Amino acid sequence: MTRALLFALALFSATHVLADDTQGDIAEGRLKTYTCSGCHGVTGWKNAYPNYHVPRIGGQNYDYLVAALTEYKNGGRKHPTMQAQGESLSDADIRDIASFLSSIKSAE
Ligand code: HEC
Repeated sequence: MTRALLFALALFSATHVLADDTQGDIAEGRLKTYTCSGCHGVTGWKNAYPNYHVPRIGGQNYDYLVAALTEYKNGGRKHPTMQAQGESLSDADIRDIASFLSSIKSAE
C-alpha cells in the first residue's frame, strides 16, 4: 500500500514536471542557439565582433528574453537580422532558448 502510494506520488511529480511548460528545455535551447553564436559570440555570449554592436544575451532574465524574441517574431520590435531570426522560431523554441540563455552565468 505504501509502496503503491509512493509510486503514484513519483508518477504524479514526474508528469507534473513534464506538463509544466511555463519554462523551456535547457538542453533543447542549447541546440537551438547554435546559429545565434555566430553573432552573439560564445564565451559568455558577448559581442563576437568589436566593430559590430550585438547585445549580450547570455545570463539575461528569462522573461526579458522571451519578450524580446517574441517582439522580433511578431514585428513589434524591428531589426532586419533579428526579425529574420525571430520569425523562424516557434513559441516553444523561444521558451527553450530563453531557458538556456538565462541559465548561463555571466563569465565577467
Ligand atoms: C546576424 C547576426 C545575429 C544573429 C545570427 C542573431 N542575432 Fe540576436 N541580435 C543581433 C543584433 C545586431 C541585435 C541588436 C538588435 C537591436 O538593436 O534591436 C540582436 C539582439 C538580440 C536580442 C535582444 C537583446 C537585448 O538586450 O535587447 C536577443 C534576445 C537576441 N538577439 C537573441 C538571439 C537569438 C536567440 C539568436 C539565435 C536564434 C540570435 N539572436 C541570432 C544579431 C544577431
